[in-house]
Amino acid sequence: MRYYYAPLEGITDATFRRLHSKYFSGVDKYFMPFISPTIHRCLTNREARELPKAESVPFAAVPQLLGKNVDDMLWAIAVCRDLGYDEVNINLGCPSGTVVSKGKGSGMLSDIYALDAFLEAIYAKAVLPVSLKTRIGVNDSESWEKLLEIYRDYPVRELTVHPRIRKAFYKGDCDMAAFAKAVEDSPFPVCYNGNVSSLDDAGKIAEQFPTVESIMIGRGLVADPGMLCGGTDREALKAFLNELSDTYCTVFESKRNAIYRMKDNWHYLIALFEGSEKLWKEMRKSTDYDRFMAIANEIIETLPMRPHPEINW
Ligand SMILES: Cc1cc2nc3c(=O)[nH]c(=O)nc-3n(C[C@H](O)[C@H](O)[C@H](O)COP(=O)(O)O)c2cc1C
Repeated sequence: MRYYYAPLEGITDATFRRLHSKYFSGVDKYFMPFISPTIHRCLTNREARELPKAESVPFAAVPQLLGKNVDDMLWAIAVCRDLGYDEVNINLGCPSGTVVSKGKGSGMLSDIYALDAFLEAIYAKAVLPVSLKTRIGVNDSESWEKLLEIYRDYPVRELTVHPRIRKAFYKGDCDMAAFAKAVEDSPFPVCYNGNVSSLDDAGKIAEQFPTVESIMIGRGLVADPGMLCGGTDREALKAFLNELSDTYCTVFESKRNAIYRMKDNWHYLIALFEGSEKLWKEMRKSTDYDRFMAIANEIIETLPMRPHPEINW
């Protein structure tokens, strides 16, 4: 099985990916949070920082693009090619209101004719192989089979399916019957994504879908960064988080912003520790960097660790 780190905007940025790969092995490809190309045809400073030259990182990474304008997307694909990447991923799943209202992300699934025309133009001219990351619908999954038919008309490098509709955001069970439809007779590789928080969960997917060769994991890997390399070791976790926080202080030029970012990490990480309620409450309230780091270290050093995180999906 190949394991991919899911793109998580606000968490798995360039710093995070670099340090995760330094302390924990087992990820075959890191998918980057999306960038949205605009008519201005230039990357913002932040985007340029988030999209380093492929050769400058010692792991495989895939840029993700979000947008519906074919020319802007083709321009961004060429930029990714020039930076040395060998694949781009197109986001057809983002459920955020501001994205969907502009007909982007999972909003692209509501007009299948426009989606078909978009994909036809992209696959006709893209200078890199293009993979897709999709949900199974917007308000319901009635068009799912039609969407699959459309995808199957194109040389999709790999189709990652997050089997939820847009309305479900990231909550509740995944629709495994819908995922099964994507796998059946698929002309291209299909990757599973959703609610995997342990290797046992991944094993169940592999057992149920023997032809699936890749699984993408997001929140489960933030919660248990060592899931794919034999479990999260306390010392490695401490070193990882200390270096991550320090680097954020430098990158953001603000300890306050570093704390905000680290709290987003701990939102998931806390699920790995038993009896963490009191310290987690204190951590959430903390605004002083040194105090925040002391609480983080106390959690890592003193609380019992669960065999795998208990995430409330
Ligand atoms: C905070 C957050 C940010 C996300 N950002 C992105 C993104 O930039 N691109 C994308 O395709 N999916 C994004 N996702 C969706 C994840 O990649 C993934 O599909 C989702 O979390 C389900 O997988 P999981 O259950 O393993 O976390 C995001 C999800 C979360 C919770």
